Amino acid sequence: MSPEKKRLRVGVLFGGRSGEHEVSLASAASVIRGLDLDKYEPVPIGITKDGHWLVGEGAAKMLPDILKGGRRVMLTADPTEAALVPLDRGAGAQRFDVMFPVMHGTFGEDGTIQGMLELAGLPYVGAGVLGSAIAMDKDVAKRLCHNAGIPVVPWVAVQRWQWEKEPAAVKAVIEGKFAYPVFVKPATLGSSVGMNKVHSAEELAPALNFAAGYSMKILVEKAVTAREIEVSVLGNHDPQASVPGEIVPHREFYDYTAKYLEDGTRLLIPADLKPAQVKKVQSMAIEAFRTLELCGMARVDFFLEKTGGKILLNEANTIPGFTSISMYPKLWEASGIGFRELIDKLIELALEMHREKSRTKYAIELPEGSGGALIA
Ligand SMILES: Nc1ncnc2c1ncn2[C@@H]1O[C@H](COP(=O)(O)OP(=O)(O)O)[C@@H](O)[C@H]1O
Ligand SMILES: [Mg+2]
Repeated sequence: MSPEKKRLRVGVLFGGRSGEHEVSLASAASVIRGLDLDKYEPVPIGITKDGHWLVGEGAAKMLPDILKGGRRVMLTADPTEAALVPLDRGAGAQRFDVMFPVMHGTFGEDGTIQGMLELAGLPYVGAGVLGSAIAMDKDVAKRLCHNAGIPVVPWVAVQRWQWEKEPAAVKAVIEGKFAYPVFVKPATLGSSVGMNKVHSAEELAPALNFAAGYSMKILVEKAVTAREIEVSVLGNHDPQASVPGEIVPHREFYDYTAKYLEDGTRLLIPADLKPAQVKKVQSMAIEAFRTLELCGMARVDFFLEKTGGKILLNEANTIPGFTSISMYPKLWEASGIGFRELIDKLIELALEMHREKSRTKYAIELPEGSGGALIA
């Protein structure tokens, strides 16, 4: 490290009040290990399932393999004071140059943490409040992509209250639109939590009830028979797409067990596609990234139908799995950007986006001499 160059303090947020808490721990451990210590001073910040924010020992207990030492803290939302303040008074506040939320799902990937960082005036990695919220809501994301001419899997969105109030009417709408099998999933979650493949009418109500436990809105989709192709996107105004990869689950579909509990799913990098298919899926990924108002990073997932070869957008993940063996970094590695360089780029993009936001005026400039008084 050159002595004149100050290291950037990077707050790595992980854990959180999400069904994907455990997945986040694995992603965060990789990100912390991947940060170049010559350039960055990582500060791990663990958020428990109860929503306690921990640094030092508390965070270390959540990631015992890589962290030691700790105390409970809170983030102030005052941009002139933005800092992690200890809840046990006396100890000093910690300041940051940039935050890296490595949290999947609810309260991490959905715009809520991003909103807090926005209030605190801190630069952060990945999509902003709007993009995060849109991408997290599979129904809104599909509506926007569909309107933009990006093909998506046919779907019906059901509000939980609607299902609870008028189950027969909801069933009729679903069965009027789709033949079985269908997929039933919470609109605002990932990691296949709360979802089921429904093979017959008897399985529909239990699946809707199950998904309703995880989200206020439920998606019912036509089950497609397709290959699963994923593309990593990186950038702000000029996003780039990686080579596509393919997921080949060893189970009926790519469920939670296939994702995290059992070996057997294969990641094929690059996916075996024709050059024209590669171009097409990359351009669709970038189009989806722009349509959903994303910045920084996203992994955009597609279905390539086995009959007819149509490519359909499945979803965009704004904080994709980030272990060193996860698809997002692996696809970049295969495209010439290694793990460390990828993290550097993400932090640069966060700082760039923050500079850009800082140019926006939040108050009107009154003409000189007006004294700032309004006529009421
Ligand atoms: N409409 C569908 N047709 C076929 N398979 C699907 C469909 N929807 C989901 N799946 C399967 O379920 C997995 C998880 O669904 P997805 O919508 O990507 O949710 P998550 O956000 O939890 O990853 C997919 O990777 C795929 O294997
Ligand atoms: Mg998915």
